[in-house]
Amino acid sequence: MDSMVGSLIATAGLIISGFALAVDMPAEGKAKCGTCHAIDKNIFGPSFMAVSEKYKDDKDAASKIAANITVGGSFGWLFGYMPARGLGANDSEIQFLSKFIADLAK
Ligand code: HEC
Repeated sequence: MDSMVGSLIATAGLIISGFALAVDMPAEGKAKCGTCHAIDKNIFGPSFMAVSEKYKDDKDAASKIAANITVGGSFGWLFGYMPARGLGANDSEIQFLSKFIADLAK
């Protein structure tokens, strides 16, 4: 009985830490964007949370963000210039990360 309670507690702990990780940078983002971006602070580019706030009321947020990541360039943040596709993200990674960014501020 005690061991069952213990495993329930352990399971609850895993679920809670799973939620905490939900706002961590996805693996694709770490490898191909993380040099310049973080979720909640500016590095060489704006934080993904700030980008999400910018598009918060835009229902096409994910597709506009995806288009900008794909072509790169300047988007008015005054950080400079983003390389197209960051450090080599492919289309499906860009789709995934754009949706992830768009949903952050919701
Ligand atoms: C070499 C640095 C660098 C890398 C790598 C990089 N970015 Fe950026 N990114 C920037 C900079 C700089 C800007 C801001 C440009 C400006 O000043 O307007 C930016 C802007 C953005 C924006 C804002 C677009 C908008 O519409 O306002 C998004 C979204 C973004 N990056 C996503 C990504 C994603 C996703 C990746 C990885 C696939 C990535 N970036 C990789 C430098 C980088």
